[in-house]
Amino acid sequence: MRKILIIHGPNLNLLGQREPNIYGNVNLSEINDNLQAMAKTLGVEIKIVQSNHEGEIVETIHQAMNWADYLIINPAAYTHTSVAIRDAIAGVKIPTIEVHLSNIYSREDFRQKSFIAPVSVGSINGFGELSYYLALEAAAKMKQ
Ligand code: DQA
Repeated sequence: MRKILIIHGPNLNLLGQREPNIYGNVNLSEINDNLQAMAKTLGVEIKIVQSNHEGEIVETIHQAMNWADYLIINPAAYTHTSVAIRDAIAGVKIPTIEVHLSNIYSREDFRQKSFIAPVSVGSINGFGELSYYLALEAAAKMKQ
């Protein structure tokens, strides 16, 4: 059974109350419940982690080497700043899908640079909570 680690970055614990016009009304635990239900249907095992700390995310990625076949990450604001998270993904060589609820390319200039996209298999952004579900389907069904 394929094992998939899902990482939610900073401020995503506030989903539902945080800028709902951009990120929607759904909260993180509802998204996580839907991901768990989907995982059963797809026949994959998932673990879900949320962290507001860059170093903790780096360590979670390192630890994933012992467990995960695939990584799904919404690095949130660290997308646009973190060489450390980029290097961790490149270092562990676990195929990774980058996820964003919003379309980062249609927003402020500072969001239009992703340090994560070049080390990802692909990126899914702009579909709200569906971005996560599409990423899980891809992580479950991709050959590699
Ligand atoms: C986000 C987009 C980022 O620019 C932002 O900092 C976030 C959320 C998204 O899911 O749309 O926190 O990653």
